[in-house]
Amino acid sequence: MLLELVELSKSFKSGSQRVQAVDGISLTVDAGEFLAIKGPSGCGKSTLLLMVGGLLSPDTGKVLIEGTDPYALSNDQRARFRSTHLGFVFQQFHLVPYLSVLDNVLTPALATNLAEAKERANALISQFGLEHRLHHTPVELSTGEKQRVALARALFHQPKVLLADEPTGNLDAENSEIVLNTLKQFTQNGGCVLMVSHDDQAVQSAQKVLGIKDGRLQPHSETETLINS
Ligand SMILES: Nc1ncnc2c1ncn2[C@@H]1O[C@H](COP(=O)(O)OP(=O)(O)O)[C@@H](O)[C@H]1O
Ligand SMILES: [Mg+2]
Repeated sequence: MLLELVELSKSFKSGSQRVQAVDGISLTVDAGEFLAIKGPSGCGKSTLLLMVGGLLSPDTGKVLIEGTDPYALSNDQRARFRSTHLGFVFQQFHLVPYLSVLDNVLTPALATNLAEAKERANALISQFGLEHRLHHTPVELSTGEKQRVALARALFHQPKVLLADEPTGNLDAENSEIVLNTLKQFTQNGGCVLMVSHDDQAVQSAQKVLGIKDGRLQPHSETETLINS
């Protein structure tokens, strides 16, 4: 089991009210699995993914990534664990605006051997057809190119778990296909993907699609569809 979520919950204070953004979500994702969670805006998708990614601590419940609870680690250990064990892809790319394509892909490199890291980053950048953009900054890239840089960065440490939050939300059809094919190929190579999206088209790339509403997974019998297997 690469990913295990046990009764995860998170609420936010909004004025005098509390919003229950995620309400008792449990699930597992195995090696080779591509799971998509589909639901409308505001139903808790991003909150769920941030918790899974070690970026937002849950009120209650547990996250296990390859058996490790990121919230049981110190802040430094958790940052390092995130960088080496998880890949993230977001709708808004979250590239560092003042760094070149090469340096953005190198941001997870930490203290590893720089020559080796550069070689790996260059190979990934070429794999995504961006070798001619190596020294450009994000503002000089198209949205599709930005997301390909984000994918290269996410894959830098060859993680086993990829998390994707509306990864095709800003992309044209061609780049959406590149992103979704990359996610599919990633699972075929033994990784797992957890993607959240409101987009019917995007979730069709997953092997399994669950619904989410008001922070809760929908009963399997109503929403689970097995598309590819
Ligand atoms: N940092 C926050 N502070 C207050 N409310 C939040 C915060 N993040 C999310 N929410 C609320 O939690 C609910 C779920 O949000 P979110 O997880 O972003 O949904 P989605 O990604 O499905 O659009 C929404 O009602 C949103 O307004
Ligand atoms: Mg969201």
